[in-house]
Amino acid sequence: MNDFTEAHRISSLLEYTQTYDRSIKDPEKFWSEIADSFTWRKKWSKTLEWNFKDPNVKWFVDGKLNITENLLDRHLEDRGDQVAILWEPNDPNEKGQSITYKELHAKVCQFSNTMIANGVGKGDRVIIYMPMVPEAAVAMMACARIGAVHSVVFAGFSSSALADRINDCEAKMVLTADGNFRGAKTIDVKGLVDEALEKTTSVEKVIVYQRTKTDVKMKEGRDIWWHDAIMNMSDQHDAEEMDSEDLLFILYTSGSTGKPKGVVHTCGGYMIFTYYSFLNVFQYKPRDIYWCTADVGWITGHSYIVYGPLLAGATTIMFEGVPTYPDAGRFWEVCDKHKVNQFYTAPTAIRALQAHGLEPVQKHKLDTITVIGSVGEPINEEAWHWYHEHIGKGKCPLVDTWWQTETGGIMISALAGITPNKPAHASLPLPGIQPIIVDADGNELEGNNVEGNLCIKHPWPSILRTTYGDHERCRQTYFSTYKNMYFTGDGAKRDHDGYLRILGRVDDVINVSGHRMGTAEVENAIDEHPKVVESAVVGFPHDIKGQGIYAFVIAETDGIEEEIRQTVKKMIGPIAKPDHIQLVSGLPKTRSGKIMRRILRKIASKDTDNMGDTSTLLNPEVVEEIIKGAH
Ligand code: WTA
Repeated sequence: MNDFTEAHRISSLLEYTQTYDRSIKDPEKFWSEIADSFTWRKKWSKTLEWNFKDPNVKWFVDGKLNITENLLDRHLEDRGDQVAILWEPNDPNEKGQSITYKELHAKVCQFSNTMIANGVGKGDRVIIYMPMVPEAAVAMMACARIGAVHSVVFAGFSSSALADRINDCEAKMVLTADGNFRGAKTIDVKGLVDEALEKTTSVEKVIVYQRTKTDVKMKEGRDIWWHDAIMNMSDQHDAEEMDSEDLLFILYTSGSTGKPKGVVHTCGGYMIFTYYSFLNVFQYKPRDIYWCTADVGWITGHSYIVYGPLLAGATTIMFEGVPTYPDAGRFWEVCDKHKVNQFYTAPTAIRALQAHGLEPVQKHKLDTITVIGSVGEPINEEAWHWYHEHIGKGKCPLVDTWWQTETGGIMISALAGITPNKPAHASLPLPGIQPIIVDADGNELEGNNVEGNLCIKHPWPSILRTTYGDHERCRQTYFSTYKNMYFTGDGAKRDHDGYLRILGRVDDVINVSGHRMGTAEVENAIDEHPKVVESAVVGFPHDIKGQGIYAFVIAETDGIEEEIRQTVKKMIGPIAKPDHIQLVSGLPKTRSGKIMRRILRKIASKDTDNMGDTSTLLNPEVVEEIIKGAH
C-alpha cells in the first residue's frame, strides 16, 4: 500500500500536542520517520547537519531520490486512474481538462524526453514563464525529473524583470506560451520573451505552448512549438537520481534591498515538508477535491498547487482565470462545479469579492466545502468573518497560514478542525517548527502577551538553503540580524491565549495584494524615468490590496505621474504600479543623507497628528509641504 497519508495525518488536538512535543524534543527522529515512508533510491546517512552562522543546512544527507517518483510513479498502482490535475480555463464556456495520475506521468515523461532532446540536462536552469495551464505544472515536474532547476517567473512580470531573472540564473531554456488569457484580456507572453531575450545571452532554446493562437514570431533555430517538440517523444522516462541537497528550484522574491533574490530549495527536505504540511493543515482525505487559487509563479503555487498536493496523492485544481471574470461569482461557481472540499485563497481576493456584495455568493450552494484557507498577508478581522460566515457557512474551519517563499511551506497555522480557530490569528506552529518572538536585541520574549520580531530557532526541512549565486546575501538577510536564528522580517504577537498573530513586515518590504514588493526595487524602477531626480516609496493601508504603493518623487517637471506608472510597469510589471504618486520638492532626510521613511509612512497613512521627533532632519520644512500635498 503506497498511501501512507492516514498514518501521518494528525486527527485530534491531543495528538497535535503530543506530536508537537515529540517533534521538538527530537526533530531528526521526527522528520526521518516521515521521510522513511517515501521512495528513496538510497537512504540518507545522517538526518540533519546544520549551523545558522554560515548558514549551512542539509537534510537527509547523502540520500538519493527523485521527487517525481514520489509524486507520480508511486501513485500509479493505487490511484493511476484518479484525477491528479483538474484544469479550469479562464473562459467558463471552454472545456476544461481532467488529467489522471497515469496521464500526468506520461506527459511528464514525454516532456522530460523533449527537454533532454533539446539540450537540457541535470543542473541546467530553465525558466518557466507560462499561463496557468497544466503544461506549466508538467514543465516544472519534467525539470525535476531530469534534474534541471526550474525557475518559474510569474507571467505578469515585465520583459525587463524576466531578463533580470534569466541573467541571474543563466538559464539555458525558456518555456513559454504564445499568449495568456486573463479575464477579458489577452497578454502577449511570447512578445515579452522575445524582448527579454534581446538582453540575455544564455538561452539556447525556447519551447512555446500554443494557448491563445496569437500570431507570434518564431525565431529559426531557437523557438519550437511545444506540440511539435513533443511529437514522437517517448512517454517513458527513467528519472534522474538526485541528491537530497541538489537544487530543485529557484524562485525570485523581493527583499528590502535592490534586486530580487533567487531563493533556493532542494529536493529532499522540500518534498517532506510540503507533503506533511499540506496533509495536516488542510486535513486532506483521499478523494477530496482541493483548490488553491494561487498562480504557479508564486511559492504558494509551487508548494500547494503542485508539489504538496501531488505528493499526498490529491486531486488539485489549476485555475487559469481571475476571481471576477466573467463575474464576481466565478470562484463560487467553480467550487460548486467541481465539488471543491478545501478552498485556499488570499485575503485580497476575499476583500475584492466582499466589495461585490452577497448576491454573487448566494447563487451558489458551496455545500461541499469543508475547509477554507488564507495565505499571503495578514487577514483583517472583517474579511475573516465574511469569509468564515459566507463561504465557510459559519462551520468550516478557516486556516490562516503564515509562511514565506524562504520557508518553502506553511509554518504557523491552525490544522483544520483539529486546533482551534481564532480570527486573524495564524495561531500555532506546525510540528517541527520552533517560532520565537524576540526584542530588538534578540532576547527571546517568553510567555504570553508579548510582541516583537518573529524568528525561528531550529531548521525545518524546507528552509531556504541559499540565495542563488550569492550566499553572503542569504546570510546577511536572514541569519545576521539575530545570532543563531532565522529572521523572518515579520513582526508577531503572542496573545494572552498563546496564539500567534502576524503583524506584518518590519523591513522595507510591502505586501501588495499578497505580492511582495521591495520599496528599493520600485524606487529603482521609478528612477529609470529620465525626468525623475529621486524617489522614496512606502506602503499605506489599502482597503482591497492590504497595502498600496505610495511614491514620493522629486522630478524635473510636473505632470509625469502617468509616465512614471508606465515606467514601473515596463521595469517590473503592472503589480508594482504605484497607487499614488506625489511630486515633491524634497524628501525628509537625516543629516547623514538617509531618507526618513518613518515620516513618509505616517504621511502616506494619513497619520500626521504625531510626527515624532523631526529635529534631527536636515530639511524639516519639507515635511509641512509634503503633508499639505498628500492624498
Ligand atoms: C506575509 C507567501 C500574515 C508575511 C506564502 C510574509 C502573511 C510574506 C501570511 C511572505 C499570513 C504570508 N498572515 N502575513 N497568513 N502569509 N504573509 O514570500 O509578511 O510571497 O513574510 O510567501 O507574506 O510572502 P511570500
